Amino acid sequence: MGKTIAIANQKGGVGKTTTAVNLGACLAALHFRTLLVDFDPQGNASSGVGCERDAVEHSVYDVLAGRVSARDAIVGTTVPMLDLIAAKTDLAAAEIELVGEDNREHILRDSLADVVDDYDFIVLDCPPSLSLITLNALCAANTVLIPIQAEYYALEGLARLLETIEMLKKSLNPGLRIEGMLITMHDARNNLSRQVEDEVRSHFPAHTYQTVIQRNVRLSESPSHGTPIITYDIDSRGARNYMALAKEFVERNRTEEGL
Ligand SMILES: Nc1ncnc2c1ncn2[C@@H]1O[C@H](COP(=O)(O)OP(=O)(O)OP(=O)(O)O)[C@@H](O)[C@H]1O
Ligand SMILES: [Mg+2]
Repeated sequence: MGKTIAIANQKGGVGKTTTAVNLGACLAALHFRTLLVDFDPQGNASSGVGCERDAVEHSVYDVLAGRVSARDAIVGTTVPMLDLIAAKTDLAAAEIELVGEDNREHILRDSLADVVDDYDFIVLDCPPSLSLITLNALCAANTVLIPIQAEYYALEGLARLLETIEMLKKSLNPGLRIEGMLITMHDARNNLSRQVEDEVRSHFPAHTYQTVIQRNVRLSESPSHGTPIITYDIDSRGARNYMALAKEFVERNRTEEGL
């Protein structure tokens, strides 16, 4: 059965989507069958792999609403072995519509159930909130990967995310674990970046990835070309960082889960 990883942090702009797209693409490049699920009404993960909002025939919202099966909503991307379920702004309506449903936190998990066996990894890109949408992602996930921007106030809000994970472990998703914490947009020349890195590592020594994602302009350019960094500029620092992350991720999973 495929492992489902939610990329979550309710803080905005910390590198969730960049990580979902590029970790997903690098895992696919390492020959793991990977499904990227864009679970943010902003639709940035979809456009990041070349699926423009207007071109989305079946979105993740249609899947949640039961109008189409997950399998029928899956589209290929420019990266071999990387598939996508796209999102568009209509997903925002789910936030309100799901409230009245029984089992409302488990709609995504149940919707994805018939495709999890088709993949090695399913990567969920979450919106910047602890909304019902994010709770659905955390209930569909086996693990949570938390990107942390190497900036001032980086750890602000993290306690609430960790409390939410603990709360879910006690009730709705007992098996949920933390996959890892990833320092993003790091600038080695900047004291503050180094301080944040030290702080994250001292708080979460076992969880923090050795790999750090450095600030790299090529990473911020690639979404506008609708392609992950490895197909935009394989020689860039961003491509090297995300490939190193994918290898570290796989290595951890090999030792932890006997992949
Ligand atoms: N390592 C990096 N180097 C340079 N720019 C980056 C890097 N990582 C992300 N960015 C840029 O920073 C911005 C925010 O990144 P991203 O969209 O991945 O964050 P997010 O957490 O998904 O945001 P949101 O909370 O809005 O969903 C984007 O413009 C992205 O291109
Ligand atoms: Mg995002």
